[in-house]
Amino acid sequence: MRIELLNTPPDAQETRIEEQLRPLRMGDFTGQQRLTDNLKVFISAAKMRGDALDHVLLSGPPGLGKTTLAYIIASEMGSNIKATSGPLLDKAGNLAGLLTGLQKGDVLFIDEIHRMPPAVEEYLYSAMEDFRIDIMLDSGPSARAVQLRIEPFTLVGATTRSGLLTSPLRARFGINSRFDYYPPELIEKIIVRASGILGIGIDTDAAAEIAGRSRGTPRIANRLLRRARDFAQVEGASLITRNIAMKTLDCLEIDEEGFDDMDKKIMETIVNKFNGGPVGIASLAVSVGEEQDTIEEVYEPYLIQAGYLTRTPRGRVATRHAFKRFSTGGTTLQDYPLFNETQDQ
Ligand SMILES: Nc1ncnc2c1ncn2[C@@H]1O[C@H](COP(=O)(O)OP(=O)(O)OP(=O)(O)O)[C@@H](O)[C@H]1O
Ligand SMILES: [Mg+2]
Repeated sequence: MRIELLNTPPDAQETRIEEQLRPLRMGDFTGQQRLTDNLKVFISAAKMRGDALDHVLLSGPPGLGKTTLAYIIASEMGSNIKATSGPLLDKAGNLAGLLTGLQKGDVLFIDEIHRMPPAVEEYLYSAMEDFRIDIMLDSGPSARAVQLRIEPFTLVGATTRSGLLTSPLRARFGINSRFDYYPPELIEKIIVRASGILGIGIDTDAAAEIAGRSRGTPRIANRLLRRARDFAQVEGASLITRNIAMKTLDCLEIDEEGFDDMDKKIMETIVNKFNGGPVGIASLAVSVGEEQDTIEEVYEPYLIQAGYLTRTPRGRVATRHAFKRFSTGGTTLQDYPLFNETQDQ
């Protein structure tokens, strides 16, 4: 497999370690069972027919393995992959250059596909559908468009915000795969595998402890594991014990549910300052001092799935469960305006 990275940001150390831990084959990719089982069938069938795989949309919260799976798809197809991202494709011309350079069956990976400019997106439609693009020859009065055939390719798009995708673009993906948070036992498996690659031992209960606080997210699990390895290293230990894991998690101020400061701040603000909500996302963002996008992409999905937060047409509302945990006593459960509506959600 030839990998061509287009416009990659400067190499940060964290990114390099992440690359090192990234599974390269379907067999090493843990979890997301239904999604990967289906993909395996579609990949085998496409290979049997000698076709390019249908276009694939991968969506879900950050750090769950979308980029990883895009690379695995290319490697399982035995194809090359070209990777870029939505915001970097600022002109249709850039995209045309990429598309004409593709060989049959190649994967074009567009990360953050919801952030492609509309003109570029429209340009992609005919490429995805008919493997044709229009290019302009000349300019001014003699300008004319000619159609150019491109090789059948597979577009793999990844997004943390599938809701922001336009429907014409969404409709052009034949395979739509949604990632879910991982259950703790699978995160534990990922931690054990990663510790093997990092060359450090880990006790089962230490792995379980870290797994329970990783918000169902492999990227977070790997990051906590690396910090635990740091603590083990300075203590001269060759094994991450439960004690070392606990110490690491305490020092990083990560609580039993994996909530960090910003999760707590968001919930405390909704419960105490906005009396449980509903509160609009813009006001919430200002109150907690975080970008609106980050709240929507990173924090909210987990708080919703953990049962603390719901989205309503009027804004964000804390559930009764959240009220019990985050109320500082200023408001009582009876004062809580949406108490009845949000019970046990
Ligand atoms: N199923 C998995 N099995 C093992 N490791 C995984 C799995 N999924 C993700 N990882 C690990 O988590 C890290 C983050 O995954 P990845 O970069 O693919 O997430 P992403 O969904 O693309 O995130 P983002 O939305 O931020 O781009 C990877 O480096 C990889 O080591
Ligand atoms: Mg990614």
